[in-house]
Amino acid sequence: MTEQIGTVISTPDGPSASQFSFVIDEDSGDIPVRQNQFIMLGSEEGRLIARVSDIYKTNRYFDRAESVREYERKGKKLTEIFPAERWEYLVGEARPLGVYNDGQIRRATFPPSPGTEVKMIKEDILSDFLGLDNEDGLHIGTVGHHELPVKLSMTRLLQKHMSILALSGAGKSYLTSVMIEELLDRDEDSGQVGTVIIDTHGEYIGFGDDEKYRSRTRVVRGKDFKIGASNLTPSLFFNLKPNLSGAQRREIGRILREIKKDKSGETYSLSDIADYVAKDESIKSSTKEVLISEISQLERTGLFGVADNPPVEDLVSPGEAAIIDISDLTSLEERQMLVTYLARKLFFKRQNSEIPPFLFVLEEAHNFVPEGKKRRNALSRPVIQRIAREGRKFHSSLCLISQRPIKLDTTALSQCNTKIIMRITNPYDQDHIGKSSEGLTSDVLETISSLRVGEAFVVGEAVNYPLFAQIRERKSKENERGMPLEEAAKQYMDESEQREEDAESFM
Ligand SMILES: Nc1ncnc2c1ncn2[C@@H]1O[C@H](COP(=O)(O)OP(=O)(O)OP(=O)(O)O)[C@@H](O)[C@H]1O
Ligand SMILES: [Mg+2]
Repeated sequence: MTEQIGTVISTPDGPSASQFSFVIDEDSGDIPVRQNQFIMLGSEEGRLIARVSDIYKTNRYFDRAESVREYERKGKKLTEIFPAERWEYLVGEARPLGVYNDGQIRRATFPPSPGTEVKMIKEDILSDFLGLDNEDGLHIGTVGHHELPVKLSMTRLLQKHMSILALSGAGKSYLTSVMIEELLDRDEDSGQVGTVIIDTHGEYIGFGDDEKYRSRTRVVRGKDFKIGASNLTPSLFFNLKPNLSGAQRREIGRILREIKKDKSGETYSLSDIADYVAKDESIKSSTKEVLISEISQLERTGLFGVADNPPVEDLVSPGEAAIIDISDLTSLEERQMLVTYLARKLFFKRQNSEIPPFLFVLEEAHNFVPEGKKRRNALSRPVIQRIAREGRKFHSSLCLISQRPIKLDTTALSQCNTKIIMRITNPYDQDHIGKSSEGLTSDVLETISSLRVGEAFVVGEAVNYPLFAQIRERKSKENERGMPLEEAAKQYMDESEQREEDAESFM
C-alpha cells in the first residue's frame, strides 16, 4: 500500500499535461510534502511521476481584501468570528515529469483527472525513474525529502564532462572531496579511473595524510612540479608564448627540433636551448633577442627542469588520485602554465592509450578557461577547450569547479553535460547556467538561490531528471582550509614590514 498524500484539484490553469495542483492531506499532523519532492499518481497513460515545484496555503475566508478589512476594523480578528482556521489548506503545485510503466519512461502528454489520489513514491521506482545506479554508483548524498541515496552512475557522469557551480562557501570543494572518496573506494570490478586534481588552495592535501586514503593518494607541491625542458615541443612553446611573431615561431620551432635531434635521447635544460639560439648564425639578431628573453622568462618561473617531475604517466593510475597543490604558486600565469602542460600531456598520453581513463578536476576553473576579456591571455584555455570538445572520445573527463559561472568559458561549460549546482544568488550566473543546461526549469533556478550549504541540484546526463540532493558527510579528513582571520592579518603585517625593510635596503 502506498500512502496517499493528497488529491488533484481543478484550478484555472489545470490540471494540464505540464502542471497540476493538489490539496495536501494534513491529517497525520506532519506535512507530508515539501518543495522539490517527487510524487506519483495514476493517469490515463499509466503511472505519472511529478516533482512538487511549489507549495502554498489557501483560505477562502481571506480571499477578499475588503471583507477581511471590514471585519477586522470592528476590532475582532476574523478567526475569532468564524472557524476560519479550519478552512486553511495546503496546496502543492507539481510538474509532471514522465510516465513510468514496467521500467519504461515516456513523456507525459495527458493531464491527470481532478480527484486523482496523489501518493508517496516508492524509493525503488524513484531510483529507476531518476536513472540512479544503486549497485555501483558514486554515492554523493540522498535525494532531498526521500530516503533514497543519490548514487550516480560513473559512466553516465564521466562519459562526458561535469561541472560543480556555486558561490563561495556553498560546499563545492566538500562535494568534490566526497566524489574523490567514492572514486578511491571503487574496486576493480566496478571500474576505476585515475583522478588528477588541481588544488588551488591546498584543500585536498588531507587525503595524503588520511589513513584510509593515503596509500591511494599522491600529493605533489606546485613548487616541486617541473616541466622537462627536453619535452618542450614547438607546439607547446607556441602555446606558452602565444604572442610570438611568425618569424620568431619559425626560428624557435627549428631550434627545438634541432636540439632534440642533436641530443638524441639525452635531457637538456632551458639554458641549453637559449645557448642554441644564441649560437645560431642564421637567426636575425632582433629575433634572437626576443627568443632569448622569452626563454629566460620561462626560466624565471622556476617551473622548468631538465625532465618532468613527476613523470605525468605516474600521476594516473586506476583507483588512485594525484593532488597537485598549486597554492604555493602565486602567479596566475605560472598556474596556467602548469595546468597547460599537465592537461596537454594527459590528453596526449590518453589518446595514445599510454594512461588509463582519467578525470581531471579543475578548481577555480574560471581562471583557467575564462570567458570575456581575460580569455585571450589564458594560456590554458585552448587545451581545456580541446579536452572539453574531444575528451569523451578518449575517456578524458573534466570536472570544472567555479564560483563565477559567468566568467567560465561558454564552450567549455556547455560541454559539461552534468552540472551539480549549489547555492547561487547572482542572477547573471543563474541565467548563464540556465542557458547552458537543458531541463533546468525556472522554478529550479529560483530555488537555487535559497539552497543551504551542502544542498545541490544535479542536472543533465548523469540523471534522467534534475534532482535535489543533500550531500552526504565526508569520510576523509577535512584539511584546515585557509587560515583564521587574525593569523592572516598578522601575516600580512609581517609581510608588509618585510617589504618595507626590503625597499629601504635598496635606497
Ligand atoms: N555537505 C556538507 N556537509 C557539511 N558541511 C559542509 C558541507 N558542504 C560544505 N560544508 C562546509 O561548508 C564550508 C564551505 O564549504 P566548501 O569549502 O566546500 O565551499 P566552496 O563552495 O568550495 O567555497 P569556495 O568557492 O570558497 O572554494 C566548509 O567549512 C565545509 O566544511
Ligand atoms: Mg572550494
